[in-house]
Amino acid sequence: MKTPCYLLDEAKFERNLKILAGVRRRAGVKILLAQKAFSCFPLYPLIARYLDGTTASGEHEARLAHEEMPGRENHVFNPAFTEQEMRSIVKWCDHVIFNSVAQWRRFRGFPRLPSAGLRVNPGYSEVEHEIYNPCAPGSRLGVPRDRLCAADLEGLEGLHFHSMCEQGADVLQRTLAHFERLFGEFLPRMKWVNFGGGHHITRRGYDVALLVRILKDFRRRHPWLEVYLEPGEAVALDAGTLVTTVREVLDYDIPVAILDASAECHMPDVLAMPYRPSIVGAGAPGEKRRTYRLGGPTCLAGDVIGDYSFARRLKQGDVLVLRDMAIYSFVKNNTFNGIPLPSIALRAKNGRIRVLREFSYADFKSRLGPA
Ligand SMILES: Cc1ncc(COP(=O)(O)O)c(C=O)c1O
Repeated sequence: MKTPCYLLDEAKFERNLKILAGVRRRAGVKILLAQKAFSCFPLYPLIARYLDGTTASGEHEARLAHEEMPGRENHVFNPAFTEQEMRSIVKWCDHVIFNSVAQWRRFRGFPRLPSAGLRVNPGYSEVEHEIYNPCAPGSRLGVPRDRLCAADLEGLEGLHFHSMCEQGADVLQRTLAHFERLFGEFLPRMKWVNFGGGHHITRRGYDVALLVRILKDFRRRHPWLEVYLEPGEAVALDAGTLVTTVREVLDYDIPVAILDASAECHMPDVLAMPYRPSIVGAGAPGEKRRTYRLGGPTCLAGDVIGDYSFARRLKQGDVLVLRDMAIYSFVKNNTFNGIPLPSIALRAKNGRIRVLREFSYADFKSRLGPA
């Protein structure tokens, strides 16, 4: 296989999807794929067998879902829609979620507007990284309770909140208590409510039974409401790897291996979060005989994936497999330094590997000027 390459695993997707479908069935809720985390559309037919549809972050993802998951629910949220975007969105989407009262006022009379909802800020989040915390002071995401009055909601059918990131059902329980305390008075006039993403449902050890209890309890108290969850990560969690080759090894004080994959270009959350990907056969620094700093092939000094130890010396041509690389990876890729984009391949359930997409110089050039 040519590297770098994201290798998706159909069986692992199906495992995740079965867990999500179980929640959907047992709790009587609807579950959407948040395309921002994963939008490799050749997998959409499989995802559509288990979930209710998708949610989009804007016009392009909404169009992708319309084209590649036809006939399923198509929701969209954006912090600030433009009129030109809205003209497309009303053709493709059945639910649109506004981020502010100003946006709702602006678009409420828009021709053929689908079921409209408002994102609110529940004023509570347990997310530690500020960059991923939509409830951090000064947040632009969701209307704070003190900026909302009943008259603003005239004509809206849904409320939406999103304030979690890779978290358990216990966090949803606490968040929901805040949401209901602040916004519960508005629920009787709504048709649906959306609890956003960040539910790490397919993670080992996630308390699925507690989630089902919370959702059923909420539905018992609000039987007229359709309840949505829109996880991204949970759909593709641990369902893909990034396969990369060692280009060069430098025998410095801290030995360095330069890979053909870059943290900056191909796994930006490693730097933003920051988090440390797990690598097949590698351990923590010092745990195995040889420790290396793994870096990318760009000019950025900080393009470093981390320090890892291996049982034997690394050499040029060695192949490394980074785990859990299907989410927030190729959706965020860039071609900084002209570094080629990794190809995307799928291992089918029968073990056969099919390359879904390879990228070339043309993909780099076409983003920078006239074709
Ligand atoms: C509004 C909204 N919904 C859903 C998600 C998906 O979250 P996750 O991939 O953590 O489940 C996000 C992630 O940022 C989001 O902003």
